[in-house]
Amino acid sequence: MKPAVIVIFGITGDLSKRKLLPALYRLFTEEMLPLDTKIIGVSRRDLNIDELLGSVELCVLENDNVCDPEGIARLRAALSAFKLEPNTDEDYHALRAHLDALDESQPRERIFYMSIPPSAYTPIVEHLASSGLNDERSRLLLEKPFGYDLKSAEALIGVVKNHFTEPQIYRIDHYLAKETAQNLLTFRLHNPIFTPLWNNDHIERVVISAREKLGVESRSDFYDHTGALRDLIQSHLMQLLALVMMDIPASMSSHDIHLSKQYFLEQLLPADPAQAERAQYDSYRDEVQNPDSTTETYAKVHLKHSAERWQGVDLILETGKAMPEKSTSISIEFKSPGAQHRNSLTFQVQPNEGIRLELTVKEPGFESTMRQAALDFTYKTMFADEKHIDAYERVLVDAVRADQALFASATEVLATWRLLQPVIDQWAKDSHDLVIYPGGTVPVLPATPSPAAASGTSST
Ligand code: BG6
Repeated sequence: MKPAVIVIFGITGDLSKRKLLPALYRLFTEEMLPLDTKIIGVSRRDLNIDELLGSVELCVLENDNVCDPEGIARLRAALSAFKLEPNTDEDYHALRAHLDALDESQPRERIFYMSIPPSAYTPIVEHLASSGLNDERSRLLLEKPFGYDLKSAEALIGVVKNHFTEPQIYRIDHYLAKETAQNLLTFRLHNPIFTPLWNNDHIERVVISAREKLGVESRSDFYDHTGALRDLIQSHLMQLLALVMMDIPASMSSHDIHLSKQYFLEQLLPADPAQAERAQYDSYRDEVQNPDSTTETYAKVHLKHSAERWQGVDLILETGKAMPEKSTSISIEFKSPGAQHRNSLTFQVQPNEGIRLELTVKEPGFESTMRQAALDFTYKTMFADEKHIDAYERVLVDAVRADQALFASATEVLATWRLLQPVIDQWAKDSHDLVIYPGGTVPVLPATPSPAAASGTSST
């Protein structure tokens, strides 16, 4: 891994404090980045690094929450502040001079991390380019959501592509960097007993669910403009779906993984708005101080795939905030003609990452009473002594070592917006279907019409 300088725009923001700085602390503590890696926090105001570090729970990723003073000292030594006004040309030239001066001791790859909303990064990207900070040593790390709908995503992707080439652009989807998400590919590749089952002869439905206990917390402005469909389904859940269902890539190279994902996503059929559901938790409007808000804090869509292999399989993506507990899982439910119980294979993404296979067994005794039993394993028990790497640690390391496999390509991002656009359009027109649910519960939704009923066609 070549040494790098990571320039973080938005270092005082929520994401940086909750995820990036704790991940960097861990990387420096475990010496997982080259020791001469430098981190520059860009800010409009004079930034006091000690105050910043003092305001962050740096060691949340440690099992015991206890910090290693040496790790903190290393992070502190690597971290410096740079004052920059995002629309001022000279500030970017000064940044370039600063980076050039750093190179005198040791040439470094340059990583510009946009830990800011996409609406704010266009001028920064343009200024970086006009001051020559987009040469082949430079990489751009971008946080989602990449746009607000298909049109704005095309525009945003276009702006960035005007100045940086695709191999320089790293669109972060931190769910791809979660351990279980990566294990999906390994599982599919190295457990051939499941390969013959991976099609519509055997699979009835795939359900991907990401439920969060927390509400919108301090992100009212962002969230009220975004909602659950854009926040999680368009990005994280679509990416997980592609990993589970795409054809096995020709190789594990970044290029082949993206090719398979893209091919899968492009053959999904656009989501049917009549099959989409949304809800909002009851205290949401007060929290965001918008009494008329129709933003969904819960969303569910059903998708279908056009490939012969997947025709008829129901693909369900669901996410919500203020739910009873935090849980993200991917369930493959197998067909079971005539059987009372269904076999299912569940990848528990978080918490307690693991894999569970539901089987039907006979209860002990004279009667033939059946019940479900699970074969399962969790990473925590199986790999108790191994180090667990947080998604943002992996995002940062992969960006430094220039591995794009776990990032989203422009084609994938556009394909997912295209699929959801009919629902976005419908929801913008009319909000009578928005269900209000008590925080801390799962919304009770009206029965979803079957795809045939929804499209007004009859099966007879
Ligand atoms: C982010 C969303 O991408 O993912 C947040 O913007 C959400 O709304 C978060 O809370 C969930 O991430 P994780 O890793 O805690 O499941």
